[in-house]
Amino acid sequence: MSPVASSAGIQLLSHDLDADPRSDLDLDALLSREECARAERFAFPRLRRRYRVGRAVLRCVLARVTGRPPAALVFSHGAQGKPALAHGPSFNLSHSEGVLLLGVSGHGRLGVDVECLRRLDDLVALAHYSFAADECRAVLALTGEAREQAFFETWTRKEALLKALGGGLSLPLKACSVALGAPAGTLLARLELPGERLADWWLRPVEGLPEGAVGAVALDRPGVEQVWLPGDYAFA
Ligand SMILES: CC(C)(COP(=O)(O)OP(=O)(O)OC[C@H]1O[C@@H](n2cnc3c(N)ncnc32)[C@H](O)[C@@H]1OP(=O)(O)O)[C@@H](O)C(=O)NCCC(=O)NCCS
Repeated sequence: MSPVASSAGIQLLSHDLDADPRSDLDLDALLSREECARAERFAFPRLRRRYRVGRAVLRCVLARVTGRPPAALVFSHGAQGKPALAHGPSFNLSHSEGVLLLGVSGHGRLGVDVECLRRLDDLVALAHYSFAADECRAVLALTGEAREQAFFETWTRKEALLKALGGGLSLPLKACSVALGAPAGTLLARLELPGERLADWWLRPVEGLPEGAVGAVALDRPGVEQVWLPGDYAFA
């Protein structure tokens, strides 16, 4: 494994899914047969393209880190669909509109989430449905754009944790509470899931995403550093 993946930190890469210079043919040469078939099942050309680019970027980054060719990587999937590589590293990806966020770590359970800020007509109902009482109070105390920002900060932080755990949205959404803003240290304030200890988890916002996007990263290792990978890691 390269020094990147064997280091204790989290390596991040963000990629514009709508501005990749490679042709579909070039991208398909990096993907598995199943991924090419899945790409074709998207109804809209833009979604087909974003899926192809996302998978190609994932494979190129993991190829650099493992020293294997992109198309040779074989993913397994957890019970709720979380992809993994048999001999590591840990990785997780998220996309929102044209923004891809990918996280890689040599160790641990890793989750990332990104969302592009947008107006949500059903924000209040969604907050009551998804957020714990303390999170709801914090978000709904705000108004206008500050409320939208707080909603997506809370959402991405919770989803990064739930994706790190592997169950994603099948897990009870109110079993954890996250803090708003960007105070130092972990943003995880409460975790009530069997077998999980709050002290084992590290949850932080992702700084440096494209404007209008918010993101978070969770790892079951306390106090880890985040480092951006060079953009050329997205290419074979
Ligand atoms: C994982 C999940 C939270 C993704 O939500 P989303 O906001 O639509 O998507 P994101 O862009 O943040 O993340 C998608 C990526 O997460 C990864 N992923 C998929 N399932 C995952 C899981 N259970 N845990 C962590 N990551 C997962 C994949 O790489 C996926 O990328 P792909 O769509 O290109 O394959 C959501 O699909 C979920 O909760 N799934 C689990 C529950 C479920 O539906 N199970 C039945 C399927 S077996």
